[in-house]
Amino acid sequence: MIMIIITIMIIIMIIIIIIIIMIIIIIIIIIMIIITIIIIITIIIIITIIIITITIIIIISKVNIQPLLLASCLFFAVFGSVRGANGTVPLVLWHGMGDSCCNPLSMGAVKKMVEIKIPGIYVLSLEIGKTVVEDTENGFFMNVNDQVSLVCDTLARDPQLKEGYNAMGFSQGGQFLRAVAQRCPSPPMRNLISIGGQHQGVYGLPNCPGQSSHICDWIRKMLNSGAYTGLVQNHLVQAQYWHDPLNEELYRNHSLFLADINQERVLNESYKKNLQALRSFVMVKFLRDSMVEPIDSEWFGFYKPGQAKETETLQESVLYKEDRLGLQALDKAGKLVFLSSDGDHLQFTDAWFNANILPYLH
Ligand SMILES: *[C@@H]1O[C@H](CO)[C@@H](O)[C@H](O)[C@H]1NC(C)=O
Ligand SMILES: *[C@@H]1O[C@H](CO)[C@@H](O)[C@H](O)[C@H]1NC(C)=O
Ligand SMILES: *[C@@H]1O[C@H](CO)[C@@H](O)[C@H](O)[C@H]1NC(C)=O
Repeated sequence: MIMIIITIMIIIMIIIIIIIIMIIIIIIIIIMIIITIIIIITIIIIITIIIITITIIIIISKVNIQPLLLASCLFFAVFGSVRGANGTVPLVLWHGMGDSCCNPLSMGAVKKMVEIKIPGIYVLSLEIGKTVVEDTENGFFMNVNDQVSLVCDTLARDPQLKEGYNAMGFSQGGQFLRAVAQRCPSPPMRNLISIGGQHQGVYGLPNCPGQSSHICDWIRKMLNSGAYTGLVQNHLVQAQYWHDPLNEELYRNHSLFLADINQERVLNESYKKNLQALRSFVMVKFLRDSMVEPIDSEWFGFYKPGQAKETETLQESVLYKEDRLGLQALDKAGKLVFLSSDGDHLQFTDAWFNANILPYLH
């Protein structure tokens, strides 16, 4: 009797244990199914994001002048939005002619790209005027010396810049930032990077960027009719760095901006001293530039005086030989850097920027 009861109890216990094990197995299977579903959904979402990003990149690159640059920005904006500790050197950007501080396809993209590559960096893209439209117009019509002193004021009042900053100017923004370096030693500029700037001016305006081609035709007429007359000098930005090699004396006497910062009239010792304080002065030349004449100006070279065919390098110029601006001293100290990009005006790839410019932004 007792044996039978014990046997029955054992059988019941075994059955109960089996039932519990089965329940556990079922629960485990359900959990695994749920996890699998979650993984599948995640994979689908990631693939969708990648497809959308690629589509956007393809669409944008059809209309954009710098597709590579923007493409990588978009990519990182989606996947790499890390922001770390800083200890970074602030960066000031000055845009080129026909552009503005905040155009998402140009300065906006550069700003974003730098912010992604150097987490925590403070990037100030200069706006000359109160609105983007005013900023663009001032790139054509506002006296450059006034623009430079406005920028000097802005920089001096910015608490984030007081320990110093790097400066990167695009096209005419390159020579304008050099004027800032020469005239306004405080806060101190560390590296000056000129991306296609025209340090000996231009003698010709063959093509214009973007939408500005009819303004450009008009500007060309004004320059040809009398770049050095008071009215044109005062109100046309491009006249202020117009450099006529056939009339060097006229240029020297009347160029309000360029002849001054290049020490053509008087020798301002403070210009020389302030420029020496740079850690490096980097000049980028675009080998297939169709907007700047002569291209040599991007490396501080120009036409030999009296004609407009043969050019001379910076090292061959009187400015360098007499070291009127301290460029020879900078060169001897290894602080002048000549870089080139094999493209049209302001065209470079993300990889080129990383390899050549990024090291100067730290
Ligand atoms: C760190 O980054 C923040 C935000 O970008 C900025 O306000 C601050 O000035 C930076 N600090 C230094 C030391 O650069
Ligand atoms: C030299 O440049 C500084 C800064 O712009 C200016 O204040 C000073 O008047 C200039 N000196 C001469 C002799 O032009
Ligand atoms: C340039 O200025 C100098 C000195 O003021 C003057 O003698 C000369 O005639 C001027 N030349 C031109 C072409 O304006």
